[in-house]
Amino acid sequence: MSRHLLVTGGAGFIGSHFVHHVVEHTDDTVTVLDKLTYAGDEAFLDGLSDSRVSLVVGDVADAGIVEDLVAKSDAIVHFAAESHNDNSLSDPSPFLRTNLIGTFTLLEAARRHEKRFHHISTDEVYGDLELDDPERFSETTAYNPSSPYSATKAGSDMLVRAWVRSFGVQATLSNCSNNYGPRQHVEKFIPRQITNLIDGIRPRLYGAGQNVRDWIHVDDHSSAVLKVLDEGRIGETYLIGADGEKSNREVVELILEQMGRQKGDFDLVTDRPGHDLRYAIDPSRLREELGWEPRFRDFESGLAATIQWYRDHERFWRPQKAAVEAKYAAAGQ
Ligand code: NAD
Ligand code: DAU
Repeated sequence: MSRHLLVTGGAGFIGSHFVHHVVEHTDDTVTVLDKLTYAGDEAFLDGLSDSRVSLVVGDVADAGIVEDLVAKSDAIVHFAAESHNDNSLSDPSPFLRTNLIGTFTLLEAARRHEKRFHHISTDEVYGDLELDDPERFSETTAYNPSSPYSATKAGSDMLVRAWVRSFGVQATLSNCSNNYGPRQHVEKFIPRQITNLIDGIRPRLYGAGQNVRDWIHVDDHSSAVLKVLDEGRIGETYLIGADGEKSNREVVELILEQMGRQKGDFDLVTDRPGHDLRYAIDPSRLREELGWEPRFRDFESGLAATIQWYRDHERFWRPQKAAVEAKYAAAGQ
């Protein structure tokens, strides 16, 4: 039976991929609630029929808008967030409003209207691992967030868990590792380096470039979220990852190679304060309990397709590129 989903942040990078995925793989209809901050773009929903997807421009922390949209939906999938660590270090305040007050506002509406709620979160809530630690993050790892961004995401997870336990809200959570793919904002690591190279600028690695991230294709994140929404156990958390650990230096070397440059054509720049060393996800629960498997197992070909997307879609990122680079330059990055 088809549902009506309220997808917050559905005009952003991951949320828009999820909306396209839902339209392709289900009969569900979707209302996107998105504030269209610097990170959201209505054009990310191009090509989707009005009979399946509509956009409401508004703030998840605005109880008036949220109340009505939650009342009309069968389930809420909550992607909306301030998502960039570097921005949270220069100005944490929008992170508190959107990530904490926004999640609280949605939870209260879900409670009043007894609606299914799925909360999108991040592996960063667990802090970081040593490079040689044989352990990976699992659903039982203790929370230990480092940045204002990850602290607000950790807080939002705790709110969801409390609303499940205290008020019986029918919620699930998922914590995913680093996503890559088309439509990611140029402030983020991979798009920044690709678009730098298109502009003839050398890639910039923070610190010594040894930090490790666990990369997953954004379409695999979407399929995992749909799986948890459909089959996840209420109150449970599912970690989403695809065994994609790579150091930042390895990623930059691959980008350089794929864009026809020498491996060493990058610069080391000022490190991020409090920079998490390594993230790594153990996705066993998702795989064994729900039978989910990633489709994009070859990072190099996923990266090549992503590079091609940035070459072909300059209109999406060009308007923001100069301002992003000016901000990084001011921070010595
Ligand atoms: P993004 O910054 O690209 O997009 C965020 C979207 O939310 C934008 O469309 C923006 O306009 C919207 N938004 C921001 N504040 C809002 C508000 N107050 N009200 C309504 N809409 C608002 O982020 P993303 O990378 O697509 O991340 C989406 C979600 O996934 C976030 O919750 C993030 O924490 C989580 N996540 C991201 C990654 C990653 O690698 N990018 C990994 C794991 C989890
Ligand atoms: O792990 C999930 C998280 O991944 C999400 O919760 C966040 O929303 C998402 O932004 C991402 O966080 P990171 O901080 O890991 O991503 P970012 O793209 O900012 O940086 C990835 C790595 O690359 C990190 O170690 C910092 C480094 N970096 C980043 C930039 C922008 C560089 O070395 N040079 C750069 O220019």
